[in-house]
Parts: sequence; C-alpha cells; structure tokens
Amino acid sequence: MNILVTGCNGQLGTEMRKIAATDESHEWFFTDIDTFDICDATAVEAYFERHHIEICVNCAAYTAVDQAEDDKELAEKVNVQAPRLLAHACLRQGATLLHISTDYVFDGQGDHPYREDEPTAPVSVYGRTKRDGELAIIDSGCHYVIVRTAWLYSSTGKNFVKTMLRLADTHDTVSVVCDQKGTPTWAGDLAQTLTLLIGKYRNGPVAEVFHFTNEGVTNWADFAAAIFDLAGKPCKVLPITTNQYPTRATRPAYSVLDKTKIKQALGIEIPHWRDSLAKCLKEFTIK
Ligand SMILES: NC(=O)c1ccc[n+]([C@@H]2O[C@H](COP(=O)([O-])OP(=O)(O)OC[C@H]3O[C@@H](n4cnc5c(N)ncnc54)[C@H](OP(=O)(O)O)[C@@H]3O)[C@@H](O)[C@H]2O)c1
Repeated sequence: MNILVTGCNGQLGTEMRKIAATDESHEWFFTDIDTFDICDATAVEAYFERHHIEICVNCAAYTAVDQAEDDKELAEKVNVQAPRLLAHACLRQGATLLHISTDYVFDGQGDHPYREDEPTAPVSVYGRTKRDGELAIIDSGCHYVIVRTAWLYSSTGKNFVKTMLRLADTHDTVSVVCDQKGTPTWAGDLAQTLTLLIGKYRNGPVAEVFHFTNEGVTNWADFAAAIFDLAGKPCKVLPITTNQYPTRATRPAYSVLDKTKIKQALGIEIPHWRDSLAKCLKEFTIK
C-alpha cells in the first residue's frame, strides 16, 4: 500500500517514521510543512494523484493550545480546512484517512471515561477546531478512522515530559497542577496502534472513531512526580490548583478516555502509562 504520513517531523510523525524504517511491506511517503503544506488544496490533490496514495495518516496539526486562542485563523486552517482537503482527496482516490484528534473535544465535566459516542463540547479554540476537523472528515463521505488521544509525549518535540526534565535541572521544586485528570500517552504506543489500524482497515470501507491512550489515570502533578522518580531527578513537586496556574486556554478538568472499543476491535492490551513513561525515558539516556 502507498501510505502518506503528514506532519512527519512532529512527535507522532517521528514515531511513525521509526516504525516504517523496519517495514518493507508498504511504500511510505513522509512529509511535513517544509515539503507539503496540507492547507494547500492544489498541492494536496496533486500529491495524492502523483503517488497513488491509498492511506493517509494525518499527524499534522496546529497543536499550540494556548497560542490557538489568539491565532484562530491558522488553527482553523490546519485543524479544520486541511483535514477537509485530505478527506476529499481520499474520497476522490478511494483512499482511507487515518486522522488523529484529541480529548480536548470534550468539556471535561464528566466523571467517567468518555466513550466515542458521547457528545463533544470543546472549551478551547484548539478543541473546537479539532472537533470541527473531525466533523469535516465525517461529512466528506470518505473512508476514515479517527483516533482521539491525550497528553501525548515522546523523546522528540515539545511536551510535558521534556519540560519537566529541563526544569528539574535548574529547580529544587516545581509547582504543577493536580486537579486535571487524564492519561499520559507515549507517541510510540500510539504509532504502533496506528499500524494495527492500518492492517485492519486497509481495504475499507470504514467509518470509525476510536479512543486511544495508555492505561491508568493520573493528574499533571503526579505525572511530574513519576517523571522525576523514574529519571532519578531529586526535584520535588508542589501540587497546585488550576486557579493558581492560569493559562490562556481552558483545559478540561477530566479527560479520561474509554478505550474499550479499540481494545476489542484490535484484540490488544494497552500498556500502563507509567510503564510506557519508563520506556520513553530510556530513549533520553540512550541519546
Ligand atoms: N500533543 C498532545 O498532547 C496531543 C494530545 C492529544 C491529541 N494530539 C493530536 O495528535 C496529533 C499529533 O500531535 P503531535 O504532538 O505529534 O503534534 P506536533 O508534534 O505538533 O506535530 C505536528 C506536525 O505538523 C506540522 N504541521 C503544522 N502545520 C502543517 C501544515 N500546514 N502542513 C503540514 N504539516 C504541518 C508541524 O510543523 P511545525 O512544527 O513546523 O508547525 C509538526 O511537525 C495531532 O493531531 C494532535 O492534535 C496531540
């Protein structure tokens, strides 16, 4: 199969590249904004035709959650209009779009893990654009698999794990919010799962939304403490409330995702977030 991965220099895209490096059963095409802007309608159409794309894994996105509040136009372009263009290109080619979305499509007022069919109600520009991107794909009529994930990190790119490791080198104590619950997700585990989804749905037709995160539930303060513990950093965590750490964008207070559907569809067990964090941290020491 000819598989296009957009946003290949991001956290998830980088993990997809690592997997593809040892996979000779598909022809992989890796692009990022420097080679292929997914907001450019002509470029999207031409790329799909020229390379006979059969599966598009859209790892590209506008992911700066706070910045999006002031940069609505670009967030809308990358997270809504571009997925619409990719979906229409897939429709024309009979290809399948594997698109990544977020726990931020929910308002976070829930008290049980969110299922795929529960109503969305984003509370930030980022969340709203990601939700509208999902709807644009669904409305297009293309074959699609949408995977919502949460609290993504890896050894590359900008993320919470890297920020905490950096702070630990210069601080004895860091203040971290303890009243937002969710599940950290290692991009390496998500990338593996995407390849299983490609295997299962490669021949379409398909129209599915799945939730995927690592197992377990935590909050940012306990996540930070686990990072310091596993990385052997003496830094301490001072738990604070969201009110004590105001940010430009509102975050959902509770964004745990129910993964029953993807576990049943793929027959998989998902690693606990702490085990995957330990694995990812080893990559930091190897570098
Ligand atoms: N990070 C999280 O915590 C999180 C949580 C839940 C869901 N997600 C979703 O998971 C997916 C992957 O996230 P990630 O953390 O891997 O993102 P990321 O590291 O920010 O990577 C996104 C990549 O897309 C590129 N890009 C931006 N605009 C583009 C355009 N117009 N054309 C082509 N490429 C473009 C970016 O380039 P530049 O860096 O140059 O902009 C970057 O290389 C996204 O859909 C995101 O919404 C992420």
